[in-house]
Amino acid sequence: MRPIEVCDRLGRWSSGRGPLYVLLAARMRRLIDDGELPPGALLPPDRALAAALAVGRTTVVAAYELLRSEGRITRRQGSGTRVAGSQSPATIEDATVDPIFLDSLEARDDDVLLAICAAPGDPPPQLAEAYERVLPALREISGDIGYYPYGHPVLREAIAERYGDRGVPTSPDQIMVTNGGQQALSLLAHALVSPGDQVLVEAPTYPGALEAFREEAAVLRGLPVGLAGFEAAVRERRPGLVYVIPTYQNPTGSVLSPLVRERLARAAAAADVPLIEDEVPADLGFPGTTPPAPMAAYSETVISIGSLSKSVWGGLRIGWIRAAAPIVNRLARLRAVHDLGGNVPAQLAAAHLVAQLDTLGLAEELKHRHDHLRTLLAEHLPTWQIPTIQGGQCLWARLPHGDGNSFAQTTLRHGLAILPGSGLDVTGASDPYVRLHFRAHPTELTEAVTRLTTAWHAYNPPADRVHPRPAIAI
Ligand SMILES: Cc1ncc(COP(=O)(O)O)c(C=O)c1O
Repeated sequence: MRPIEVCDRLGRWSSGRGPLYVLLAARMRRLIDDGELPPGALLPPDRALAAALAVGRTTVVAAYELLRSEGRITRRQGSGTRVAGSQSPATIEDATVDPIFLDSLEARDDDVLLAICAAPGDPPPQLAEAYERVLPALREISGDIGYYPYGHPVLREAIAERYGDRGVPTSPDQIMVTNGGQQALSLLAHALVSPGDQVLVEAPTYPGALEAFREEAAVLRGLPVGLAGFEAAVRERRPGLVYVIPTYQNPTGSVLSPLVRERLARAAAAADVPLIEDEVPADLGFPGTTPPAPMAAYSETVISIGSLSKSVWGGLRIGWIRAAAPIVNRLARLRAVHDLGGNVPAQLAAAHLVAQLDTLGLAEELKHRHDHLRTLLAEHLPTWQIPTIQGGQCLWARLPHGDGNSFAQTTLRHGLAILPGSGLDVTGASDPYVRLHFRAHPTELTEAVTRLTTAWHAYNPPADRVHPRPAIAI
């Protein structure tokens, strides 16, 4: 097992109280007992793990010694450090090690600020109001078993109408409601990607999409954000799928111009390559910004996905897919096998919220928090390079030295969880970057920058840098 893989599995290991070696041993003990580090697995050498975790070698040696004394690992000269025992057939293979997903599984009772997943910290008051509005309708339901694999017709209609308002005429049978944008991505990956297919993505991009494509054994190919070289890549590589975040891109915040959208949509259609545009961040513009029309405006073959997780609340778990009706039909058959459809009360409430998306006051709040974070960063960490953005929820910061992985390990020990760039980029070019989100309250952002600054001054980049994940760049 490579150090980076163990490191990803360790999550927020250093955020508790007590000596670092005890915390490290405690987290490894749990991973061994849960079978996440399976019997027989070869663990990284002391020095390599120490470098990946940005700690001294003695911390790793002491943690390994503790686990060895408990009989959980074996250490032999020549054959390295292994988890004790032999492989059991009941081990669950291939669970994700992506930090975004692992962080969502962490207990929330520690003092760590800025969870890695960027999303609203509280639902807006309009969410409770929307539920109050649907209560009478819920009382009246009769003769309806409530299973809607396509999504509830009321919400499909509301989403279709919003596309129409944004310049993309849409009928409800082109919409499928999903449990968040992530289910939309995993369904599409399952439907459209066969093992070994090349999937063309931006580098960097949303890591949850990369995980969904990896689940289908895709070969990921990266193009720079802005997609220079797209036409040639589509022509020559013949990818099975293209995935783009055109508006307030996650993590860079960039926006594709109408001209580029049209070019990409037409080039993908001409090559008969399905193109997914992920519009999950599209409602996160700052005041006065009007994003260009969705890429679906330029070609009927573009598949769009969206979600209320960032504009309303992640806990609502409402997302959607917009595609040609035959694709929606196929996806609904796949989806029915997974969960038979989503929660109906949430969908009825969401129908009210979709209609109010432009009046939730989100733009002002986002801009306020963005400005607060950016001002503090400019003051305390002036050597960091951070591009200007017009919307979104994250800043994409280039560190002047070191690498995102080892720095994120250092911030964790100062009570701050940030996302290192490496896991977002299949080309390996984002290793010097970290992603910081500004969804937290301003007081929390202030404290986060204090911790970030202390961590930066304490940061000592390891001489033997952790190598990035294997990358395939075009
Ligand atoms: C670009 C992008 N797509 C999809 C998702 C997943 O959306 P959801 O939280 O609705 O499942 C996210 C969440 O962070 C995202 O940033």
